[in-house]
Amino acid sequence: MQYNLDVPIIAGNWKMNGLINSQKEIKNLINFLKNNKKNGNVIIFPPFTLISDFKRITINSNLGIGAQDCHYEEQGAYTGSISPMMIKDAGCTFVIVGHSEIRESRNESSGLIKKKSENCHNNNLITIICVGEDYECRMKGEHYNFISKQLFESIPTTANVNNTIIAYEPIWAIGSGESASSQDIKLMHQHISDYLMKGKIFNNKIPNLLYGGSVNSNNSNEILSINNVNGALVGGGSLDSNEFIKIIQSI
Ligand code: 13P
Repeated sequence: MQYNLDVPIIAGNWKMNGLINSQKEIKNLINFLKNNKKNGNVIIFPPFTLISDFKRITINSNLGIGAQDCHYEEQGAYTGSISPMMIKDAGCTFVIVGHSEIRESRNESSGLIKKKSENCHNNNLITIICVGEDYECRMKGEHYNFISKQLFESIPTTANVNNTIIAYEPIWAIGSGESASSQDIKLMHQHISDYLMKGKIFNNKIPNLLYGGSVNSNNSNEILSINNVNGALVGGGSLDSNEFIKIIQSI
C-alpha cells in the first residue's frame, strides 16, 4: 500500500488485542477495499506478534500495516524492544510514536519520541506522532500551550509532510466512549495547523492531521467533515472489521 497524501487516512490501532485468528478481520478488510472505489489510506496497527503474518496476507492489497511503537536505537542490548530497522525489515510502512498510553505508562518524554521518530525517518518509515492533553490540563485551560510544546519537542528535523502525520488524541476522550466535541476538535486542529505553519516546522506546509479518541461509526461522519481533520486514529472501533468498514465508508 502506497501512502497517498491527498486522500483521508483511517488508521486502526489494535493496541494489545488480536490473535492469529484475527486474520479473518484482515481478510474482510482486504475484500472490502478491493471492491471499494473511494479508498483512503487504510492502515491497521496490530500487535508486533501479528505483523509478519498480516504483511504476508496483505501483500498486493490496499491495506497498510504498521507498528504501534518502536525503540529509538537501531539494535543492541535492549531486551523486549523492537527497532525501526526491524519494523522496516518486517515490511511495514508506518509507525505510531508518542501514543499517550506509552508516554504515560513508560514515562516517555517528548525528547524520546523525537529520537524514535527520527530513527523511523532514517529507515524510510512514516511516523504518526501522537499528541494529546489530559483532563486536568484542559480544565486549567492550558491545552493549547501544552499541545504546542508537545509538538515542538516531539517533531524531529527529519520530518516532512511525506513522512509524518500528526494525531491529536485528547487523553480524556480515549476509550471513554465519548469523543471530543466537534467544536473542540475544530479549534485544536486549527491551533495545530496554525502552530506548525507559524513555526515553519514543515516548510510552509501542513502534514495530515488525524483525530483520535472514541471514534466510531456513529460519529465518524461528523468528525471527518471537520476542517483540518484529514482522518482518524481509531482504537476500539477498529477491532471488529464490520464496524471499521462503516468508519471507512464515512470518508
Ligand atoms: P479509542 O478509539 O478506543 O478511544 O482509542 C483511540 C486511540 O487511542 C487510538 O490510538
